Amino acid sequence: MKNLTPRQIVEELDKFIISQGEAKRAVAIALRNRWRRQMVPMELRDEITPKNIIMIGPTGVGKTEIAKRLARLAQAPFLKVEATKYTEVGYVGRDVDSMIRDLVELAVKMVQDEEKRRVEDRAKREAERKLFESILPRREEILNRYGIQGDQEILAYLGEGKLDDEEVEVEVPARSSMPMAQIISPQGVEEMGLNLGDMFGKFFQGGGPKQRRIKIREAREILVQEEAQKLIDMEKVTQDALQRAQEAGIIFIDELDKIAGKHAGVGPEVSREGVQRDLLPIIEGSTVVTKYGMVRTDHILFISAGAFTTSKPSDLIPELQGRFPIRVELRPLTKDDFIKILKFPENSLVKQYQALLATESIELTFREDALEEIARIADEINQHTENIGARRLHTVMEKLLEDFSFDAPEMAGAKLVVDAESVRKKLSPILKDEDLSRYIL
Ligand SMILES: Nc1ncnc2c1ncn2[C@@H]1O[C@H](COP(=O)(O)OP(=O)(O)OP(=O)(O)O)[C@@H](O)[C@H]1O
Ligand SMILES: [Mg+2]
Repeated sequence: MKNLTPRQIVEELDKFIISQGEAKRAVAIALRNRWRRQMVPMELRDEITPKNIIMIGPTGVGKTEIAKRLARLAQAPFLKVEATKYTEVGYVGRDVDSMIRDLVELAVKMVQDEEKRRVEDRAKREAERKLFESILPRREEILNRYGIQGDQEILAYLGEGKLDDEEVEVEVPARSSMPMAQIISPQGVEEMGLNLGDMFGKFFQGGGPKQRRIKIREAREILVQEEAQKLIDMEKVTQDALQRAQEAGIIFIDELDKIAGKHAGVGPEVSREGVQRDLLPIIEGSTVVTKYGMVRTDHILFISAGAFTTSKPSDLIPELQGRFPIRVELRPLTKDDFIKILKFPENSLVKQYQALLATESIELTFREDALEEIARIADEINQHTENIGARRLHTVMEKLLEDFSFDAPEMAGAKLVVDAESVRKKLSPILKDEDLSRYIL
């Protein structure tokens, strides 16, 4: 884990998220505390539990975005779940433990990908060697056809991909992880930490590897995968992943406000309080069995979010309130925030559209007054219809640029400049009609 200071973390978040300083500070402290904890003497280390956070704020103001960016920054396994997706024990549906299993699954994937990258070069070299061997039976034919001499040249051609369309016989592993296994896997079995998919996968494989005749292009992919697999120690991957999930995992629980309150739902809906009670042990710290092994949840950081308009954090059961000691409020975004959101983030909408149209050889620029106008319009619609925060910018931009998006292939080479006037021209007919803007923007 990179040990950024809280200030540095906030600076990193600033690259993607406008305003919301309070929330950024809170998550930055939480992340830094994890690093601090690693430095604390062993006896005390286990006593220090993460200070979980509730982010309170209206829709589309950056709650999810902050948590997501934080996880990426920390290179931590990050799982986003909706609190409403869970049902209390005894009811049909997802049990809360499944979020820990999902987190571990993500951690395994993460460590595995890192390992793959680490062994990539070796796997590629090894695959290339095998490809060369597989082409040897056709050596004379290949030499003649390409007018080349000797193995060195074959190797060079192979490396440059010039032989990719040639066919070779290679031993390929029988197709595993059949999607069908996914379908038969019922929830109940998954809950026991078993993976039916794996079991059935093996069952249906029908024996060991098979000799197949395929194009070199395809063979290379298979062989690289296979060699990488051989070079990776899955036992170690699993251990690292479990540790990473335990020590660095972040779970983002969205819509926490929707399970606040005691009321039992109608019919098959289960009581919100029940789900809260089920969440308690996980957030407080317990052991969950996964197919990779046991995971302690004590040090997983939980960040939850909700609008809390009809309910309050104080409507949560007291025990759960205690597990989320840090509360931060995110503010509704202003027109000025919108301008900044359009302009500054490294992944800003403006930059996204510019990149998309650049693929069609079109240079798209926005004049400053255009951005102001877009921000103003987005703000106005938010005021008059429903306030969906920065998401409004997406709908407005999409509408504004729809003609360019459609015509782009026929406009290659064009330099398009958007100014306030053209924004008004395109959008004001829709804005005049409130009903229409409700649907389109
Ligand atoms: N403060 C912000 N700065 C930059 N972009 C933002 C900001 N707030 C929201 N956005 C953008 O708006 C979109 C929605 O934001 P996000 O998913 O964080 O909303 P949210 O607060 O989690 O809302 P919800 O309560 O509906 O889940 C994202 O594309 C995000 O990049
Ligand atoms: Mg969200």
